[in-house]
Amino acid sequence: MQHILITGGNAGIGKETAVALARKGAKVIIACRDLEKAKQAVSEIKSITKSQEVRALHCDLANLDSVRTAIQNYKERFGRLDILINNAGLITDKLQFTKDGFEMQIGVNHLGHFLLTTELMDILHRSEEPRIINVSSHAHYKGKINFDSFRGEQGPKSYSAMQAYRQSKLANVLFTKELARRYSFCYSHSLHPGVVSTAIAEKNDNGILWRGMWKVFKPLFLSPTNGAKTTVYLASSPEALKTNGKYFCKQKEKAPAKLAEDEALAKKLWDVSTQLVSKYIS
Ligand SMILES: NC(=O)c1ccc[n+]([C@@H]2O[C@H](COP(=O)([O-])OP(=O)(O)OC[C@H]3O[C@@H](n4cnc5c(N)ncnc54)[C@H](OP(=O)(O)O)[C@@H]3O)[C@@H](O)[C@H]2O)c1
Repeated sequence: MQHILITGGNAGIGKETAVALARKGAKVIIACRDLEKAKQAVSEIKSITKSQEVRALHCDLANLDSVRTAIQNYKERFGRLDILINNAGLITDKLQFTKDGFEMQIGVNHLGHFLLTTELMDILHRSEEPRIINVSSHAHYKGKINFDSFRGEQGPKSYSAMQAYRQSKLANVLFTKELARRYSFCYSHSLHPGVVSTAIAEKNDNGILWRGMWKVFKPLFLSPTNGAKTTVYLASSPEALKTNGKYFCKQKEKAPAKLAEDEALAKKLWDVSTQLVSKYIS
């Protein structure tokens, strides 16, 4: 039975991805920052899909110690991994920091996933057809990587939430491409899920403006079930095994930003990320 690990599988796009893949007969493990929410989601996913093969794993991507523990726990409890879906993500309207002192969006959306992924490559390697799926966003098209902002060096007054989000989502695409270059045995792709009616902008102490705007426009967006379709396609279709390191939208390959094709930048991001998480590498 295929083992699929989904970060942020307790809500939004991640939860619908878990439902779809459990229905297809996979064992699905959802990695979440709040274990109570995760357990609740596990029982809901089990009840919707009638599958008993759904599990929860605690993993707070804003705390590298927690990511390290999650990696160990995952290996001990499950011992097998076929597909890793790096779906969890957040947007914060104010400058916030992870436990390790990184700006929250680059810390959770990229660095936490970087540690998780690179430290799970050994068990992914044992799978016949390993896949990694990184949920990015079209927001990456306007992204730039400013290595001097990873610790929030610009300060709260000059902080731009959108710049930080775009940067983290460009990092997802660059990371995917570098994964494909370094680990050709594994099929790594990134994607844009669409603009999806989830609670992403209403969390993490975001102010009334963000919450209000998001709530007003939410009814116009894709349902989370539809928002999960490209992730599910990349996790299950044989077509996704014909290419590597590509960017997808609406279940089709799409050219990413020019900057996302910059190999030197991808390598530098890899090296800087390795150095930033080095304390937690086994
Ligand atoms: N919604 C959109 O329109 C849209 C568009 C483009 C890309 N995306 C991307 O799609 C992905 C899923 O977002 P969504 O829209 O489904 O939002 P969501 O409903 O808020 O789901 C995000 C998931 O990430 C989890 N998460 C947040 N911080 C975490 C942390 N520190 N450690 C572990 N898990 C954490 C959340 O946990 P909690 O439930 O505890 O908050 C939740 O399970 C994100 O990567 C996002 O950037 C979304």
